Amino acid sequence: MFNYVGDISELSHNIINKYLKNKNVAIDGTLGNGYDTDFLSLNFNKVYSFDVQEKACIRYSDKNKDNVTVICDSHHKFNNYITENVDCIMYNLGFLPGTSKEITTKHTTSLESIKTGLEILNPGGIMTICIYIGHDEGKKEQSCILNFLEKISKKEYGVMIHQFLNRSKTAPMLVVIEKNS
Ligand SMILES: C[S@@+](CC[C@H](N)C(=O)[O-])C[C@H]1O[C@@H](n2cnc3c(N)ncnc32)[C@H](O)[C@@H]1O
Repeated sequence: MFNYVGDISELSHNIINKYLKNKNVAIDGTLGNGYDTDFLSLNFNKVYSFDVQEKACIRYSDKNKDNVTVICDSHHKFNNYITENVDCIMYNLGFLPGTSKEITTKHTTSLESIKTGLEILNPGGIMTICIYIGHDEGKKEQSCILNFLEKISKKEYGVMIHQFLNRSKTAPMLVVIEKNS
């Protein structure tokens, strides 16, 4: 049993809770079963939550959470739906365990979404990205996202990765980006 070196989704929640000062508006870029959206809904005034799977969107909408807007569209279209800046953006990339692996996030749209997300992130805001590299598309996402992030301005953004060293080479990794305040 590990408290810190365990589940990267839980770690992302803990980091957001501890280090993010303003918790007004948040985006969940990958709604899925809604665990991250539940967390954001508890801690933020307003949450936008995206997924391309209608089933996931309907299931979450049925919870009727007052502060959550579910958007059944791809996360690379943030600007079509959101006209304000946000304090936090979370991604849990890949596919939903137990469902079709075909409906997975794709490196091109994931990267486009991350780029747009960084633009609408408030100073002091935090973006977290869980990347699952045990499948081909996940490996592409890892490589193109890390390639992009290692080149972004270090004055404007701090970027850290959390990666297991003594587990499988395909264990998931967590990327945390903080926008300079
Ligand atoms: C690993 S799951 C997310 C898990 C989720 N955060 C949770 O708490 O259960 C990835 C989700 O991303 C969704 N997805 C795939 N492509 C997407 C896209 N372009 N835009 C938004 N969501 C997408 C999938 O349908 C899937 O539900």
